[in-house]
Amino acid sequence: MGKPIISFSNVVKRYDDDETILKSVSFDIEEGKFYTLLGPSGCGKTTILRIIAGFSEATEGDVFFEGKRINDIPANQRQVNTVFQDYALFPHMNVFDNVAFGLKIKKMPKKEIETKVKEALRLVQLGGYENREISEMSGGQRQRVAIARAIVNEPKVLLLDEPLSALDLKLRTDMQYELRELQQRLGITFIFVTHDQEEALAMSDEIFVMNKGKIVQSGTPVDIYDEPINHFVADFVGESNIVNGTMIEDNLVEFVGKQFECVDGGMRKNEAVEIVIRPEDLSLTSIENGKLSVRVNTQLFRGVHYEIICYDEQENEWMVHSTRKAVEGSQIGLSFEPEDIHVMRFNESEEDFDARLESYEE
Ligand SMILES: Nc1ncnc2c1ncn2[C@@H]1O[C@H](COP(=O)(O)OP(=O)(O)OP(=O)(O)O)[C@@H](O)[C@H]1O
Ligand SMILES: [Mg+2]
Repeated sequence: MGKPIISFSNVVKRYDDDETILKSVSFDIEEGKFYTLLGPSGCGKTTILRIIAGFSEATEGDVFFEGKRINDIPANQRQVNTVFQDYALFPHMNVFDNVAFGLKIKKMPKKEIETKVKEALRLVQLGGYENREISEMSGGQRQRVAIARAIVNEPKVLLLDEPLSALDLKLRTDMQYELRELQQRLGITFIFVTHDQEEALAMSDEIFVMNKGKIVQSGTPVDIYDEPINHFVADFVGESNIVNGTMIEDNLVEFVGKQFECVDGGMRKNEAVEIVIRPEDLSLTSIENGKLSVRVNTQLFRGVHYEIICYDEQENEWMVHSTRKAVEGSQIGLSFEPEDIHVMRFNESEEDFDARLESYEE
């Protein structure tokens, strides 16, 4: 890993004595990458952004920017800009003046302001919109004005707090592409907040999955999707089938009363574990060819695939994504490959998890 541009070291946030909002959060943000804080409402995502931006103070712990402790540096002296969820544009100013606002405060010469504002608007594909009133812009356009206003200051880090949540699905998807492309073109570090797992998977170089004031797992989208550390992450990131099982020995796991070959290891013999199999990794087959025998309960057509809900003999639910239809009420087989079985330990720390995966994969 390169030199971190932002680091949190055991950051704790408390508003009063009994409520701890952030519980010892530590992470490193590498320069030039797209990071996403992903987690349910109230888990502390905005709180982390506010501490980075300097709008809120860490109760304990240290915040570093390029290796220097910045806990006591005021917000306006940090090389960070924020795009807020509600955009916080000035409604009585036109597009140009909204974007130029920060530069005027810095008393930059007029010519230079003009050049920079035009360039920022061009980058968000709003060239020519300088004289439009904010009230005459669509939601997606306002969102781009907010981004232009942030990037015109040439921050080293751009913080984006759920900037797409007010947009409809189509525009949201378009903006995901645009933001990702903009980040790559500018090469500056983005820290993006969302509670939408698909958005996080699509856009990020690195995801920090948060729950209840803690980062529970960090990694690339593929790492997190393929190797969720625990039940919470498996359930929150993507659709999952999760059942209880026993790790008999390395590469051999038992669930639903049967033993299966798998590719995990490094646990104790006969350790109680949880098993994840993604719906797209299950396929429908005959009972004889199936590894599990299940009863088809319901199915829904989802456009690209059928979402089929089945139950095994122990009444565990199995969701299957299949391009083939099933017959409701019928008994069928489900097949899957050893590498489709993901084994999770109870209460494993991220350090232990990473170390186990590393030693095991060698
Ligand atoms: N000024 C404050 N005083 C007291 N508690 C606060 C304050 N600001 C936030 N909190 C609490 O801190 C917790 C985390 O809030 P935060 O805004 O960081 O969540 P979030 O992950 O951004 O959620 P959302 O997805 O809903 O925006 C919440 O329980 C919230 O009620
Ligand atoms: Mg928030």
